[in-house]
Amino acid sequence: MVGYGRVSAMIRVGVNGYGTIGKRVADAVEAQPDMEIIGVAKTQPNFEAHTAVKRGYPMYAAIPERAPLFAEAGIEVAGEVDELVAEADIIVDCTPSGIGEQNRELYETHHTPAIFQGGESADVADVSFNARSNFDAARDADYVRVVSCNTTGLSRVIAPLEEEYGVEKVRATLVRRGGDPGQNSRGPINDILPNPIKVPSHHGPDVKTIFPDLEIDTLGLKVPATLMHVHALNVTLGDDVTGAHVRQLLEDEDRIYVIPEGLGIDGAGKLKDLALDAGRPRGDLWENCVWGESIGVNGRDLYLFQAIHQESDVIPENVDAIRAMFDLEDKETSMQRTDRQLGVGITGDPSGFSEQARAEFADDD
Ligand SMILES: NC(=O)c1ccc[n+]([C@@H]2O[C@H](COP(=O)([O-])OP(=O)(O)OC[C@H]3O[C@@H](n4cnc5c(N)ncnc54)[C@H](OP(=O)(O)O)[C@@H]3O)[C@@H](O)[C@H]2O)c1
Repeated sequence: MVGYGRVSAMIRVGVNGYGTIGKRVADAVEAQPDMEIIGVAKTQPNFEAHTAVKRGYPMYAAIPERAPLFAEAGIEVAGEVDELVAEADIIVDCTPSGIGEQNRELYETHHTPAIFQGGESADVADVSFNARSNFDAARDADYVRVVSCNTTGLSRVIAPLEEEYGVEKVRATLVRRGGDPGQNSRGPINDILPNPIKVPSHHGPDVKTIFPDLEIDTLGLKVPATLMHVHALNVTLGDDVTGAHVRQLLEDEDRIYVIPEGLGIDGAGKLKDLALDAGRPRGDLWENCVWGESIGVNGRDLYLFQAIHQESDVIPENVDAIRAMFDLEDKETSMQRTDRQLGVGITGDPSGFSEQARAEFADDD
């Protein structure tokens, strides 16, 4: 690794910013056999702080002057964020967009490597990362950015298509949720917004941080939903293909769920119900969900719809980024281990997929 080179037997991970992404990253790291959470940092003792304490994560004050507020709320503070950064082998920064960039100086001061999230601009880190697409690029990096939920979702589909057929051009329309379930300050409330109105959108250039030579144009919209994003994809491939061949290719990807016909899953709402019925933590869907029926081919032009759970698809990627940076495993081994420990991968009868995956691998690691 990592240039700074301080590695313990178990990788000691700190999470700075314990919100939508941070709390999921913390649980995913704790579920791995080769890494542990040594603390999380927050600015205020809200319900998520109590959740963290309940889960046994030592709490650090992200803003030192606010430490007394935690004590008043009955939450013991283990120290200030500065101490967490000094103690950790690596920090996963899950603070709101733009704060991560400000935090980089703190990480550099302590020679602590860090992972940033997709809300930061690409130049916050040495490398933008998606496990399936460029795992090895993170090997020598001290600072890595796990790309956004949408870029992660697009990269997971583009990587196998590129490898198998070559990709001439991607055109994608991203119908994005207005906000996460807890983000009641975001909208739209009752509207459909071209967003950004200027086309093509910024998403294409973000995908190019993973696939620098890719031809891609994207358009974005926002709708009044909190559930998931939905992408409409048109990919011009290098070869003539059949829909059946593409479908098999995508079905072979562990982080892609090709939704079978006949389950009555006709939208993001039912996908979320499926995840909740299956007992997924927080109703998470770590996989891209591609409607099998939508996979259509016209010559070299492929079309499909996929749904992306914005709150959770990047979570396995953060775990893999840690392993890549510390050179712990190769890509396949890391991704498989992450998936097994979390229960990623939907096959067969989806009603019991979480339990099935966990039970199958209960003895592993
Ligand atoms: N949510 C998504 O759909 C999604 C998907 C992929 C990537 N991302 C990216 O992930 C990052 C985090 O997004 P998020 O959705 O998890 O945001 P979030 O839900 O708002 O969580 C961020 C948390 O950071 C805490 N925080 C605020 N200022 C802080 C500071 N100075 N130091 C430490 N903690 C601070 C906040 O909690 P307290 O103030 O209560 O401590 C907040 O709960 C962003 O870059 C975002 O673009 C988000």
